[in-house]
Amino acid sequence: MAEDLIIQVGDKKTQYESLMPQIKGLITGEANLVANLGNITAALKEQFNWLWVGFYWVVEDELVLAPFQGPVACTRIKKGRGVCGTSWEKGITLIVDDVEKFPGHIACSSASRSEIVVPVFQNGQIVGVLDVDSTELAHFDAIDQTYLEEIVGFLDQL
Ligand code: SME
Repeated sequence: MAEDLIIQVGDKKTQYESLMPQIKGLITGEANLVANLGNITAALKEQFNWLWVGFYWVVEDELVLAPFQGPVACTRIKKGRGVCGTSWEKGITLIVDDVEKFPGHIACSSASRSEIVVPVFQNGQIVGVLDVDSTELAHFDAIDQTYLEEIVGFLDQL
């Protein structure tokens, strides 16, 4: 497929609906994980222009920074630490409307105000998380959760 992303205007759902088949097309037939994580983060950043979007990957007993788009970030997160480590520990998506109110939030960027973290499963195991940060309070909702969970689900079907 062509590597140009078609950027959609409109409401959030409309934007995701345009993006989903494009992301699927970018990663289908490509077995390299780093390439796929890189293109997923690039496509999401181009469409939504969030502050930060990227993956942390499980390496032994830590999450380690993986492909991302945005400002430089902390490289290692322990299980149960911050929003990412809590999502990993609990195996659930976390939406944080105000990061300053999340106990133990890890502030990689002082510009981050709200966050969503989605666990990535492969063969029933959590292998990483997708983390998205916004400069706006309460930026993420159930619509983001639905689509971002579907996107990371693509990684379980390759
Ligand atoms: N805020 C995250 C850490 C990762 S950065 O936001 C990129 C957390 O609390 O887990």
